[in-house]
Amino acid sequence: MKNKIEEYLKKVQEFHADNLEQLENFRIEYLSKKGKIPSLFADFRNVAPEERKEMGQLINSLKNAVQNKIVALKEALEQSSQSDGTDHDLTLPPNVTLGTRHPLSIVRNEIIEIFSRIGFSVSEGPEIEDDFHNFSALNFPPDHPARDMQDTFFIEKDPDIALRTHTSSVQIRVMENSKPPFRTVLPGRVFRNEAISARAHCIFHQVEGLVVDTDVSFADLKQTLFYFAKELFGENTKTRFRPSYFPFTEPSAEMDVSCNICGGKGCNICKYTGWVEILGCGMVDPFVLESCNIDSKKYTGFAFGMGIERITMLKYQINDLRLFFENDLRFLEQFKSAY
Ligand code: DAH
Repeated sequence: MKNKIEEYLKKVQEFHADNLEQLENFRIEYLSKKGKIPSLFADFRNVAPEERKEMGQLINSLKNAVQNKIVALKEALEQSSQSDGTDHDLTLPPNVTLGTRHPLSIVRNEIIEIFSRIGFSVSEGPEIEDDFHNFSALNFPPDHPARDMQDTFFIEKDPDIALRTHTSSVQIRVMENSKPPFRTVLPGRVFRNEAISARAHCIFHQVEGLVVDTDVSFADLKQTLFYFAKELFGENTKTRFRPSYFPFTEPSAEMDVSCNICGGKGCNICKYTGWVEILGCGMVDPFVLESCNIDSKKYTGFAFGMGIERITMLKYQINDLRLFFENDLRFLEQFKSAY
């Protein structure tokens, strides 16, 4: 009996299965009711008492060897059937949930993309600014209300250092640090000491634009912004310019676009006027050019600035600005875009 078991053990160790059918036959051969192992257990009854211990151990180790062999071969066969390429496509994308861009990032990227198509570069500047870059060089008079603590976040009560209140400060940094011509957009986060509501927040985002060159005119400004409005809101968008005032531009204007919701007929988004304001703009005041050591007799320029929140709200008909800052996935997951 001992020889027989050892012979089986050797056969089990050497056994290989090419498919699950061969493996099943192997299992039947050893483990089924009439298989080799049950018949060994049946013979065990006739084993002399002094040999029982040894024979019992041998039969058990054979049984274990068979069971281990079946598990190992089954696993190997299943793996190789998966990787033969028929039931498992390795080129499929991984099954993970992809995140989406924040709506403000989508619109900022789209704005940058539209301007980059007509030769604008992108520049950035610091969020903590000094008085010169945020106010003085931009021609804000010393008693302008924006310089008041009520409107601006000053750093540790230092009247010279504040969180920038607009991206116009980056215009100054660009003009100081390089030579004209410039054609650049300046996106960034800005800060104002405002109560948070559906229409205002103490942190928001702007994109500024600056063009300085010889012979830049108001016609260039109009044509650039006309192109921009059509690219952003659609081919049928109309624009209009209204006179306005900013310390750093002269003349200054605000640009309205025809309401993209009602197409100009009048609705509650445009307050039944058919128009919505989207940006401020104007010809760069010669004082600003001179503050940055640019010869205002040789160079002229135009600038514009817009709020990304406002444009995003118009584009997607969002009526509460606080949604942008709450990180509620039910809101954020609705935005999918190429930008
Ligand atoms: N800085 C202005 C603001 O925050 C926006 C602005 C208006 C920027 C006119 C400009 C401009 O460059 O020409 O309200």
